[in-house]
Amino acid sequence: MSTFAKGLEGVVAAETRMSFIDGEKGILEYVGIPIDSLARNSTFEETVFLLWNTRLPNKAELDALSKQIRSRTKLPPKLIDIIKGMPTDAQPMHVLRTAVSALSLFDPKPNLTDIPSAQEKALNILAQIPTIIAAFDRYRRGLEIVEPRTDLTFAQNFLYMLNGKEPTEAMARGFDICMILHADHGLNNSTFTARVVTSTLSDMYSAITAAIGSLRGPLHGGANEEVMEMLNEIPSLEAVEPYIMGKLAKKERIMGFGHRVYKTIDPRATFLKTFAKQIAADTGNQKLYEMSTKIEQIMAREVGAKGIYPNVDFYSATTYHSIGLKLDLFTPMFAMSRVSGWAGHCIEQLSDNRLYRPAAKYVGPHDAPYVEMGKR
Ligand code: CMC
Repeated sequence: MSTFAKGLEGVVAAETRMSFIDGEKGILEYVGIPIDSLARNSTFEETVFLLWNTRLPNKAELDALSKQIRSRTKLPPKLIDIIKGMPTDAQPMHVLRTAVSALSLFDPKPNLTDIPSAQEKALNILAQIPTIIAAFDRYRRGLEIVEPRTDLTFAQNFLYMLNGKEPTEAMARGFDICMILHADHGLNNSTFTARVVTSTLSDMYSAITAAIGSLRGPLHGGANEEVMEMLNEIPSLEAVEPYIMGKLAKKERIMGFGHRVYKTIDPRATFLKTFAKQIAADTGNQKLYEMSTKIEQIMAREVGAKGIYPNVDFYSATTYHSIGLKLDLFTPMFAMSRVSGWAGHCIEQLSDNRLYRPAAKYVGPHDAPYVEMGKR
């Protein structure tokens, strides 16, 4: 008695202890803790511990995890050679996907899937993704690659490696909050992808590589870059209304709006909106914020009744732009955080695995004749 659900909508395909979403009420919790509370009080490293251990750490445990991450941030020299061999006009998401896949080549035992080995690999990948992104960005700009430092937090270290100077406290904290907000989100497309790959007992590198490929799509994590492109395309605040109305009239989608699960504002967007307002004002990007709120108002008026509201990608565009990140680094930022969720889900999958193998409803002909080439 199988039923077909296009896009697997409403299909429950895994059990997880990591994040809970109530799309009607706009609730997101990591291990029961509301996302807003974590964004206000936690750090990305602590969030990683929470997701991977399904409880908050004590001080010694948090220090130990932070130390483990910091000690793994360096890339194998040959991977740096691979990065330097890439075209400077390559897109960072393609570079990241290729480099994470290449990381497996420097692991003497890449295929191990016992839980301690999978955890080790998860830590390595999580620690090395920021170094890969920063190294490629500096290389393509013709700048020296900056070595990671072991005295900085995850967020500080990335911004340091990218810009060659330590970020201000406000920038680092803002960036850290973005990392917390993007860390996990139920069985989203890329997380499902990671679990599907893991369920074949393939390796962590393959699962994360596949997840990066999924995240890149404009209907998923790639939307934050498209939001920024849209904001860049609109010349003024007055031009917002005709621009959005024109797109809606042509039945085009407005990027950064709508969600398969949320039928109200995404709670991550609520938090990011407040944050975007502050950081945009601090960095002279107020116009972007004003254009964004105008788009939000028009969308609420035009399609709010359909349950289409801002998602996490909408205000993250203004936030990342204000932090000084280039447009094509927005989706890699999502990956840099979401790898914590992907890896946690891979380990959950390994702990109670069953191969994913859904069915397809065949809608083609039956008993068809084989027609010879000359008679087709
Ligand atoms: N702008 C305008 N109309 C929209 C939008 C949008 N962004 N999203 C959905 N709709 C309309 C759609 O046209 C359809 O209308 P109708 O019923 O009249 O044909 C209705 O809403 C339902 O759309 P759907 O495609 O069946 O909804 P879905 O659950 O398959 O799609 C989505 C979810 C996220 C793919 C979609 O909302 C979308 O394309 N949004 C824009 C891309 C985006 O911002 N993606 C990031 C998602 S959040 C972060 C992440 O998970 O990565």
